[in-house]
Amino acid sequence: MLNRRRFFQYAIGSASTVLGFHWVAASHAAATAATKELDLDQFCLEYPYNSRCENYLPGVEATVPDGEAYSLEALLSQSRAGDRIPAEGLENLTYLAITNGPELASYGISAKCTHLGCTVDWNADEQTFICPCHGSRFDALGNVVNGPARDPLRLIAVATNQDRIGLVDQSPEANPRS
Ligand code: FES
Repeated sequence: MLNRRRFFQYAIGSASTVLGFHWVAASHAAATAATKELDLDQFCLEYPYNSRCENYLPGVEATVPDGEAYSLEALLSQSRAGDRIPAEGLENLTYLAITNGPELASYGISAKCTHLGCTVDWNADEQTFICPCHGSRFDALGNVVNGPARDPLRLIAVATNQDRIGLVDQSPEANPRS
């Protein structure tokens, strides 16, 4: 027969096991859901014309800084090849890149300076990103022109769906620097 003390030890142990099981199950479900979402982002970046991606915008929707979501059509009607357009949605500002056409490139350039993290500005006349903090300069693809920054600006994957633009916090499928 269980004495009182052993009974409580047993009860607490059983409760911990049950709670632990539920915690593991819940964590697993959350991880699976996150993986599925991430996979669909990845899948639709690779195969944007697949039927599963018909109404799916990978990543987060790009918005005008402090404003509304971008309209792809409106953006392109006002842009020229070589433009770099600031967009919000991710933790740091992203510059959208306009190529010949004009078309929206499948990559964007993070505005986070790789020296100490300030936000770089785009200088259209010089086709250069300039950091206001310590003067690092980067070319239109984010390659370092002048330090103190040593590393290029991060590239961001950009997707579109109908009239919307999505920013995906990962490297683009094709590297425009190579
Ligand atoms: S943070 Fe950009 S140059 Fe220092």
